[in-house]
Amino acid sequence: MKLLITGASGLLGINLAMEALREHEVIGVHRGKLKSAPFQVLNVDILKRTELHSILDKTQPDWLINCAALANLEECEKDPFQARRLNTELPGELALACEKRDIRFVHISTDAVFDGTKVGMYTEEDEPSPPGIYSQTKLDGERAVRQANPQAIIARVNFYGWSLGERRSLGEFFVTNLNEGKNVNGFTDVVFCPMLVNNTARLLLEMLQKDLSGLYNVVGAQPISKYRFGVEIARTFGLREDLISPRSVESSGLTAKRSHNLWLSIHKLSTDLGHEIPWFSTGLAEFYTQFQQGYPQKIRSYQH
Ligand SMILES: NC(=O)c1ccc[n+]([C@@H]2O[C@H](COP(=O)([O-])OP(=O)(O)OC[C@H]3O[C@@H](n4cnc5c(N)ncnc54)[C@H](OP(=O)(O)O)[C@@H]3O)[C@@H](O)[C@H]2O)c1
Repeated sequence: MKLLITGASGLLGINLAMEALREHEVIGVHRGKLKSAPFQVLNVDILKRTELHSILDKTQPDWLINCAALANLEECEKDPFQARRLNTELPGELALACEKRDIRFVHISTDAVFDGTKVGMYTEEDEPSPPGIYSQTKLDGERAVRQANPQAIIARVNFYGWSLGERRSLGEFFVTNLNEGKNVNGFTDVVFCPMLVNNTARLLLEMLQKDLSGLYNVVGAQPISKYRFGVEIARTFGLREDLISPRSVESSGLTAKRSHNLWLSIHKLSTDLGHEIPWFSTGLAEFYTQFQQGYPQKIRSYQH
C-alpha cells in the first residue's frame, strides 16, 4: 500500500513512518525538518488548501494518516486560532479530500477529550467533556472528520517514545532529565494509559489492514500515574528514581487544565483486532532496547 503521513517529523509521524516502511511505500509530509529520512518526503504547507489537494492528486495514496497537530496544550491556550486551524479545520478538510478520492483516512485524536471526573474507565460510548482549548479543538476535529468522511478511523491515543527532540515525549523527558541528574516532578494524581509509540503505529496499520472504521481508543492496556510512569522508567534504565518528586498536578503552575483520570477502555480495539493489546511492561522493555540499540540517535540523524 502507498501511505501518506502528514506531520511526519512529529513523535507519532516519524515512528509510524519507520514502522510502515517495513511493508509499505511511505511518503512523509513535513515543513522542512527532515533531510535524510529513509522514506520519500515532501516539504508542503498543508494549511494551504491548493497544496493539500495537489499532493493528494500527485501522490495518489491508498491511505492517509494525519499526524499533524498543535499537540502542545500550553501552546493551544496561547494560540487558540492556530489550534483550531490545525486540530479542527485541517482534519475536516483532509477527511473530505480523501473521501472524494477514495483514500482511506485515519485521524489521530486524544484521550484528553475527557475531563477525568468519571470513576473507572472511559469507553467510546462516553460523552466527551473537553477541559481546555487543545481538547476542545481535538474533539471538534473528530466531529469534522466524522461528518466529512464517515468511514474514517478516529483513534484516541496516548503514547511515549523516541522523537526528533529529546524531551518531546514524557518518556524522553524522564530519561533525559534523570540522566542529567536533574530533579523532576511526577504527578501522582494524573492517571493515563501510555503506549510505546511504535505499538500505537503497528496497531494503526493493523486497523487499516483490517478495514476498521469509526472511533477507537488506541491506548495502553494499563492505567498508571505519571509519577509511577517516571519511576518505572528510572528502574528500567537504571536511573535514580529519588530524583522524581511526587506532586499534585494542581501545584504544577501549568495553564491548561489537566484531567485526573484518563483511563480508557481498550476492549473495543482488542475485540475487533482479535488479540490482546501490548502490556505496559512489554512496551517499556522495547523503549529501553531501542535506547540501547541507538534508535533515538538514528531517527534524530534524519533532521536538519
Ligand atoms: N503525544 C501524545 O501522547 C499524544 C496524546 C494524545 C494525542 N496525541 C495526538 O497524536 C498526534 C501526534 O502527536 P505528536 O505527539 O506526534 O505531536 P508532535 O510531535 O508535536 O508532532 C506534530 C506534527 O505536526 C506538525 N505541525 C505542527 N504545526 C504545523 C503546521 N503549522 N503546519 C504543518 N505541520 C505542522 C509538526 O511539524 P514540525 O515538526 O515541523 O513542528 C509535527 O510533524 C496529534 O494529533 C496529537 O494531538 C498525542
